Amino acid sequence: MKDINYQKHYYAGTRDELVTILADTLSEFRFQHILRVEAKALELADHFAITDLEKVSVAALVHDYAKERSDDEFKTIIVRKHLDQDMLNWGNYVWHGFVGAEMIHDELAITDEDILNAVRRHTTGAPYMTIYDKLIFMADYIEDGRDFPGVDDCRATTFADLDAGVAWQLKHTLNYLLTKQTPIHPKTVLTYNAFVANNK
Ligand SMILES: [Fe+2]
Ligand SMILES: [Fe+2]
Repeated sequence: MKDINYQKHYYAGTRDELVTILADTLSEFRFQHILRVEAKALELADHFAITDLEKVSVAALVHDYAKERSDDEFKTIIVRKHLDQDMLNWGNYVWHGFVGAEMIHDELAITDEDILNAVRRHTTGAPYMTIYDKLIFMADYIEDGRDFPGVDDCRATTFADLDAGVAWQLKHTLNYLLTKQTPIHPKTVLTYNAFVANNK
């Protein structure tokens, strides 16, 4: 992996300082995951000739910053910051993206909207996704620790065509959610429509 030397465009400290905070904040399991997501996101960025590697690195490292917070903490922020109150009907899976972005903004002083949006959109996706959204969305799904059936096919698809990778993930996630008969966030459906159903 390329060594990313932060120019402090997005985070006030060095990469090492950010990594130390994350190591102290997250379980070892999740800490290793975010490092693998960063490695994969940088690999994808290199492959697709994305030049702002500092932005990719910060977004990847912080994407699950809030994943291990309590439900009560998320609910408090949704109410206190007057976020979309429908959020209260969802759970950690949706909160750690949408509400996690608020925590990253407030606690880590990261204000770049590309980074915050990549965090907000990393679980449900969005009908319109920036290149950074797509890199984090896919790196999270295909990082080297993932071993679900078809992951190698998804990796190959993603490196061949990033949008096709996004569509691959959405099809499989939606299928999985349907089998489990869990509620599906409307944003996931809108993303599916944009990348799969309307793009045949
Ligand atoms: Fe996540
Ligand atoms: Fe993740």
